[in-house]
Amino acid sequence: MCGIVGYVGDKTAVPLLVEGLKKLEYRGYDSAGVAVLDEGSLTVKKSVGKLAALESKLGDEMPQTTVGIGHTRWATHGRPSDRNSHPHTDCTGKIAVVHNGIIENYLELREWLSGQEHAFSSETDTEVLPHLVEEFYTGNLEEAVHRVLGMVKGSYAMVVLHQDEPDKLVAARKDSPLVVGLGDGEYFIASDIPALLNHTRKTYILNDGEVAVLTRQGVKITDSKGNVIPKQVFQVNWSAEAAEKGGYDHFMLKEIHEQPRALRETISSRLAADNTHVILREVGMTAEEINKIRNIRIVACGTASYAGMVGKNVIEKLARIPVEVDIASEFRYCDPLLTPETLVVIISQSGETADTLAALREAKKNGCRVLAVTNVVGSSVSREADDVIYTWAGPEIAVASTKAYITQLAAMYLLALYLGQVRGTVGQELAQELIAELKNIPGKVQRILDGAPLIRDLSQTFTDVEDAFFIGRGLDYAVSMEGSLKLKEISYIHAEAYAAGELKHGTLALIVDKVPVIALATQESLFEKTLSNIQEVRARDAKVIGMVFEGNNQMKKSADYVLYIPRTHQFLAPLLSVVPLQLLAYYVSLARGCDVDKPRNLAKSVTVE
Ligand code: AGP
Repeated sequence: MCGIVGYVGDKTAVPLLVEGLKKLEYRGYDSAGVAVLDEGSLTVKKSVGKLAALESKLGDEMPQTTVGIGHTRWATHGRPSDRNSHPHTDCTGKIAVVHNGIIENYLELREWLSGQEHAFSSETDTEVLPHLVEEFYTGNLEEAVHRVLGMVKGSYAMVVLHQDEPDKLVAARKDSPLVVGLGDGEYFIASDIPALLNHTRKTYILNDGEVAVLTRQGVKITDSKGNVIPKQVFQVNWSAEAAEKGGYDHFMLKEIHEQPRALRETISSRLAADNTHVILREVGMTAEEINKIRNIRIVACGTASYAGMVGKNVIEKLARIPVEVDIASEFRYCDPLLTPETLVVIISQSGETADTLAALREAKKNGCRVLAVTNVVGSSVSREADDVIYTWAGPEIAVASTKAYITQLAAMYLLALYLGQVRGTVGQELAQELIAELKNIPGKVQRILDGAPLIRDLSQTFTDVEDAFFIGRGLDYAVSMEGSLKLKEISYIHAEAYAAGELKHGTLALIVDKVPVIALATQESLFEKTLSNIQEVRARDAKVIGMVFEGNNQMKKSADYVLYIPRTHQFLAPLLSVVPLQLLAYYVSLARGCDVDKPRNLAKSVTVE
């Protein structure tokens, strides 16, 4: 996720900005920049790469002024480069903006601004902001920013400078955090608390729709209509390390709780406002090329491959194209039967997994079109694929993937709907129903997260467990695979996932007294079948934890414990059913004293075979 720092006071701004950005480095970034205001001039320096690259550009030529903003960029729209780095400026060079989030309607704004003779120098969504401020500025920066906020859709944490108002920062937030630091005669603004802790622990936490105006004289907070509102000081009592985790005990828990926003940022700009269709501009295939696809091979490792299993299910259902899911380390050595009519879908959070990258190259060698789903702009996979659907989950620090996985699922649904709408294989009614419900999913994920304490209580019963089994049918089986991996990789319990109907062909021999079996039963068309599989394990004294939609009253008669998830279209169930399994794995790992964020033997990105 990007980092933002701003300062107004009586100290030289640049060293403070760089120091603050360094406190945000853990969030991951690929470029950085600063802008400072001097009497009558605005100076901007920015560079692709780490802060060291920026510092070597700054040298000692930067003005020793006391007002400025800084930014570390995690690329979403536009590759990592000098010109895509923030701050971005307007045509006059008098206005500078730094921004976190996604301006969903940036293309139409860019078009309108170009019509107003604005010239753009980057590929970013952010650059529309300084040009909009320029368009609306009539001598009052705060007013201009308010007018801009009325034009933009999406998520933002933004800070704006204007050369003609040299002692002022104007900041606004919606769906992307911003915090004001209250010093003694000096004021800070940052995207995250760690950037402030060297200077103050007194803060204002901005809420959505609020605008902050910082000058040496103090801080004014207004609502979206410009009405001044009183703010409660939030005294930060966290340690610096805790602050990096946003107050959560571990990055994994923070990332689990970031999932509603990660989903919203990944799907919102790709779903038509009237729910009629999916918008995937990043897929360069023509309708003719899409109609020529004869089969799809989804290739990935670990969690990403389990997202691919959901993808298989939904693409076959909606686009009516045969799909196989291959483990990347197998794919590259099995002499895969590929033709130019095969679409290869590569899924990789990091975009650097060696086996997955090798599989991509194998596909290209065979003349296949490659579509990548990745979370890292500029990663090797993103550079070598023909098309890339980015998940906008932000950097994932914990080794165990959570928000990246759930946004990979979202990408699978978007791709399935898109291919189906182009090939005419998905009915308009079903498409609208699914698209409308996709927009409800982030809120339903939040509801599950609000019930986390119940799952924490359940996890206490796993402390001495040696083996655990996850079972399900259809989409529930695909999610069981991910639930099983989550549990084993961070709690070290031996866990296995099985198609529910497959247990009796051998594995049932392992089901004995009190062995936990987590049974997913969201697929109503398969519910009775799954229930009979639950009876099979109950008959062997297993401890059954069932998962169903709210309102299902049958499961409690068959299970020792029931996990209820909000009702949704059963087709979209994986986007919800995985969340309790992530929380369960997290709390069991905690109860067993394991290293949640850095489990033994594992790396975040496996860049070796
Ligand atoms: C998942 O929790 C693991 N960290 C691991 O399975 C991971 O998903 C796998 O190594 C693939 O990584 P990638 O998505 O970066 O390619």
